[in-house]
Amino acid sequence: MERELALEFVRVTEAAALSSARLMGRGDKEKADQAAVDAMRRAFDTVYIKGTVVIGEGEMDEAPMLYIGEQVGTGDDPAVDVAVDPLEGTNLVAKGLPNALSVLAVAERGCLLHAPDVYMDKIAVGPQAVGTIHLDASIEKNLKSVAEALSRSVEDLVAIVLDRPRHERIISEIREAGARVKLISDGDVSAAIATAVEGTGVDILFGIGGAPEGVLAAAALKSLGGEMQARLAPEDEEDEERIKKLGIKECNRLLRLDDLVEGEDVIFAATGITDGDMLKGVRYFGKTASTHSLVMRSRTGTVRFVEAVHRLDKKPDYIVKAGRHEGCQ
Ligand code: FBP
Repeated sequence: MERELALEFVRVTEAAALSSARLMGRGDKEKADQAAVDAMRRAFDTVYIKGTVVIGEGEMDEAPMLYIGEQVGTGDDPAVDVAVDPLEGTNLVAKGLPNALSVLAVAERGCLLHAPDVYMDKIAVGPQAVGTIHLDASIEKNLKSVAEALSRSVEDLVAIVLDRPRHERIISEIREAGARVKLISDGDVSAAIATAVEGTGVDILFGIGGAPEGVLAAAALKSLGGEMQARLAPEDEEDEERIKKLGIKECNRLLRLDDLVEGEDVIFAATGITDGDMLKGVRYFGKTASTHSLVMRSRTGTVRFVEAVHRLDKKPDYIVKAGRHEGCQ
């Protein structure tokens, strides 16, 4: 993939963020998601790729746009697989809470795990702790190994976990081991990335979240040099069928970073919708708006932060008008 494409992908996440952030704190997560999806879908039309959505808004019959199998881009080479989450953290935007992102990952054809929208058990760490974790090891053992790799005590570590009843055992085991816990209401893509970014104060991610989010997080961690292990966690036979339908034969297999995202040519882009640990959210200033994004390529490991000021009078209507309250100018 040409490196110039990286900036094109940032334009796509920017478009989704600019549209969706209008609905921040307005209590309507569906509308916020719709605004992001519409804008992202249209922004893809201008990108010179022959893209196939492999992680998207759902299967063809359940999503009108960005469904799995949909073709995006101009249709020109390179042929790539695309994973998208136009709005990662629908509740976060609806409630005006931190860390909502618009995200996408693009890799050479066949390199992204085709994961359906089922649950996935995950563990993730940053570069300094690579090689020290195992999804099947106890929480205590993982924490001890990470602490050793970071030359710290377990008490110094912070584990980030989605605040869900299903994680009660994990949370109490982290506490019993002596580490500190950061509970989040949503958004485990940003949480996984935080483990690999200095200054976020987060060392390890544990717990079950969405499988599509797992693949997106893996794409980011590949560029950041972190590690993630995962296992699909189907809840019933229907989930198992959906997994098989996408070509995954063994539901129970331990998935390492290379199983989630194969090869060394993946681009990950994200734009902040609400303020977060790494990215600022969208700000509107009447005729202009600002966005804060990051884009990275695993081939080089370069991480670029992009601060952009957008002239809204020069943006297409699908961005400017999306989500605006009727009666507002
Ligand atoms: P949405 O953006 O689809 O609302 O997902 C937010 C999220 O918190 C993800 O980050 C996470 O992987 C998943 O939901 C967890 O699912 P659940 O809310 O069912 O526990």
